[in-house]
Amino acid sequence: MRASLLQSCGGLDMPTSGLFSRNLKKTFPIAARGEGCWIIDESGRRYLDAAGQAAVVSIGHGVAEIGQAMAEQSAQLAFAHTSQFHNEPAEKLAVRLLALAPANFRNGGRVYFTCGGSEATETAIKLVRQYHVETGQPERYRVISRRQSYHGSTLGAMSVSGNVARRAPYAPLIPEWGHIAPCFCYHCPFNKTFPECELACAADLETFVREHQTETAAAFIFEPLVGATLGAAVPPDGYVAHIAETCRKNGILLIADEIMTGMGRTGKPFAVQHWGIEPDLILVGKGVASGYAPLGAVLASARVVDAIEGGSGTFTHGFTYQAHPVCTTAGNAVLDCLETHQLFERVGTAGKKLRETLARVEGHPHVGDIRGMGLLVGVEFVRDKATREPFPKSENMAERIRQAATAEAVLTYPTQGCVDGHRGDHILLAPPFTISEQECALVGQALVSALKKVFPS
Ligand SMILES: Cc1ncc(COP(=O)(O)O)c(C=O)c1O
Repeated sequence: MRASLLQSCGGLDMPTSGLFSRNLKKTFPIAARGEGCWIIDESGRRYLDAAGQAAVVSIGHGVAEIGQAMAEQSAQLAFAHTSQFHNEPAEKLAVRLLALAPANFRNGGRVYFTCGGSEATETAIKLVRQYHVETGQPERYRVISRRQSYHGSTLGAMSVSGNVARRAPYAPLIPEWGHIAPCFCYHCPFNKTFPECELACAADLETFVREHQTETAAAFIFEPLVGATLGAAVPPDGYVAHIAETCRKNGILLIADEIMTGMGRTGKPFAVQHWGIEPDLILVGKGVASGYAPLGAVLASARVVDAIEGGSGTFTHGFTYQAHPVCTTAGNAVLDCLETHQLFERVGTAGKKLRETLARVEGHPHVGDIRGMGLLVGVEFVRDKATREPFPKSENMAERIRQAATAEAVLTYPTQGCVDGHRGDHILLAPPFTISEQECALVGQALVSALKKVFPS
């Protein structure tokens, strides 16, 4: 099949793909197989997937039971539209996700399944708006977010994202509802240091709502650890509780975007559970089906559900493929695997092993910071370790390090812009929860070699 595609395109040197790829100037290897923490391309080359692709794969690649469960479900019932039927796998997964969530979701919460993270963000934006309409506050519509954040690629999700590069081309299409400062101690936007800063970044939400018409604010959305944009930036003690309290005091709903951090990636089912807060909505994606099916979800707390149920009863929103039986079957099978093999519990110890091996590069003059929680770890590269000065954007350092690590057969997830949206280079490591000690060591070794190649002394 591949050979005939190449021939019909006139030979190996020609761009042969019919896919509208992410970069039309690049060629991509064809992934042929997955086994545990490894991806094997069509030439047989093996790559250790230290990024879990994009912090997606939690149970590892190639777990046959997931595909078997999906095939059985597909043979029994592949699809039924949610305007006419519910289905058993979706019902079951909803209950199981709510049971993992904070207490305010467990008694009367509900789950809205989507086909991925961006759809979950879109759904949340509309759900918080409808909550306020139903509760007699129709003036509330703005979803406040943070600069240097990412919540998805559709237009609503982009409007709450603060990722400069990903927003820039679409600026005229995106409404501006307000962004506050990021919470990023390594490059503090206030040039302060914790704890003397007294959480200036959290206070920024209070200032913002005071100065920008509190009465129109519907919700605040945040990533508990900022994933792709800031490379697993962890909030300091007190930050999460502070913003939760500001939201509560001002009648603003709190949306935790756990699309990257959720489903165990940081060592608890949801990252907010590290700080004991109860958001109004939790978004999941990525790990909820570990890449076996396109699946995301909005977990709505009882308070939000009650408002709609006690009002019109109808959420004016819908997707043809919401709560898809085969995708939610994948979600159930992945959760079975996480539970049977106690993989949530494994994240803490595997994360420690990964950090131990990263100690090998910690002292490197261009490794500025290693941060994160559990198996969501960022490594930031700086030109000057003492001043934390980043490399110029044109040096494309994150990508160069990714390429050098790939040459060592280890996959990482590079991003530029953590400092100011343009400068700043990091790679994200988010391997499957099954990663072994030996595989962790390979990640450390690959980074040592990659850094030698990129910075020959
Ligand atoms: C925190 C966060 N929110 C939302 C999204 C968007 O999810 P998706 O790509 O599944 O639409 C992502 C994806 O990287 C993400 O990391």
